[in-house]
Parts: sequence; structure tokens; C-alpha cells
Amino acid sequence: MHPYIIAQQYTNIFMRQHVNPLSNNFNQIETIPSLSEMFGDSKLNLHLDIGSAAGEFLFDLALVNTSWNYLGIEIREKLVQNSKLKVLEREIKNLYFLFGNANNILNDVQCEFIVKNIKSISFNFPDPWFKKRHYKRRIIQPEFINNLSNRLQKGTLIFIKTDVKDLFDYMDCIISSNFYLKTIDKKNFNYSESFNPNEVKTQREKYVIVNQLDIFERIYMKI
Ligand SMILES: C[S@@+](CC[C@H](N)C(=O)[O-])C[C@H]1O[C@@H](n2cnc3c(N)ncnc32)[C@H](O)[C@@H]1O
Repeated sequence: MHPYIIAQQYTNIFMRQHVNPLSNNFNQIETIPSLSEMFGDSKLNLHLDIGSAAGEFLFDLALVNTSWNYLGIEIREKLVQNSKLKVLEREIKNLYFLFGNANNILNDVQCEFIVKNIKSISFNFPDPWFKKRHYKRRIIQPEFINNLSNRLQKGTLIFIKTDVKDLFDYMDCIISSNFYLKTIDKKNFNYSESFNPNEVKTQREKYVIVNQLDIFERIYMKI
């Protein structure tokens, strides 16, 4: 059995791990506040993390990199409620979370200002949905990427990372076949100027490293 599935089964005991993003429950999206309602300084560079789970990765980033704003989108409502509470308690001004299916949120006309303002997007260890009949639940889909790439500003970066080779190939095939997105050579990539200058690891990434699993990743740029 793939180590990913073993880990997921263990986690399922404590919290519902998988949510069907195609469920009608996510058709309606919450009202999206303006950037100045989300952040103390709306002019800072904006990074978007899709599938931010409990938000630990973004908390680690936001607390250290105060010259960036961080926005997380997560489909599990309870996690978003808890993250929002923590942001308020800690009075963090450069971090915000939205609840819902990222696909629906980013395609919504309300979100145009977010898409136009983001400098980078990360898809860290997205749900793999192993069964072929469930592939359409994967967050990266041709229509989603086409729609997004048409609207992003030139120079916007997209980071993908996963420990599932089949999912990596699936995502890479979709993104690299998009006319407006070109692969960046990771060897020459300067993280110090990115949203993640200290190369902070996500929760899933820490697990993958401890268990010595492979990590497949790629960076793309809107041209
Ligand atoms: C495997 S977890 C990875 C979490 C985190 N990025 C990490 O690297 O540790 C994938 C996360 O994406 C969320 N997710 C899945 N599909 C989503 C969607 N369509 N929109 C927003 N979040 C989604 C899941 O609920 C889950 O929290």
C-alpha cells in the first residue's frame, strides 16, 4: 500500500481527511473581503497557498517574512475557522484564510483582484485522489489552469510539490502544456527573493522527509 494511504488512514481516526470538492456544498462561496480588509498593508507582495490545511506552513512564513502577505484557501471549514481564530489571537496582520473549494473561489468574479495581485501560488502536496474515476476531484485540472493562466500577471510563479509521482506527472502535464506557463530551472532559482526565503517545510513535507519518501516538485512562471 502506498505510504500516503497508510498515513491518511491513520489521520482519518482523528479528523475527516478528504472532502469531495465537487460536492454541491461548495458551489456557494463566501463573500471575499478586499485586500485592505484582509491585510494590515495591502501593498505587500501576495502569496497564495492552495490547500493550506491547518495553516501551520503559512503561520511559520507570515511570522518571519513580514514583507509578504499570505493567503490560504482550504476546503475543510473547521480548519479555516481555527486558523482565523489564531490569526486574531496573535494579531497577525499579513495572514488571511478563505474557506471553500479553491477552484470555485478563484474562478469567481469576486476574486479577480486576488488573481491580479498574486505574485506566487503554491500547491503543496494536494490530495492525490488515486482512483482514476476520482481524478476529476484533483485540484489541478486543465480548465482551472487555463482560466487561471489567462488572468495571472506576467512573472507570477506557480510552485507544485507532491510525494506521489503519478500526481506529479498529471499536474506537470497539465501545467507545462499551457502556452502561458513555462518551467523554471529549480537549480538557478533564488529562494531568497521568493515567498519562502528560508525554505520552510509544510506539515506533509516534514512527514515525507522523516519517512525518506521522494519529493517531486517544479516551478512555473506566467510569461
Ligand atoms: C494532503 S493535504 C496537504 C496540506 C498542506 N498543503 C501540506 O503540504 O501539509 C491537502 C489539503 O488540501 C485541501 N484541499 C483539497 N482540495 C481542495 C480544494 N479544491 N480547495 C481547497 N483546499 C483543498 C485538503 O482539505 C487538505 O487540507
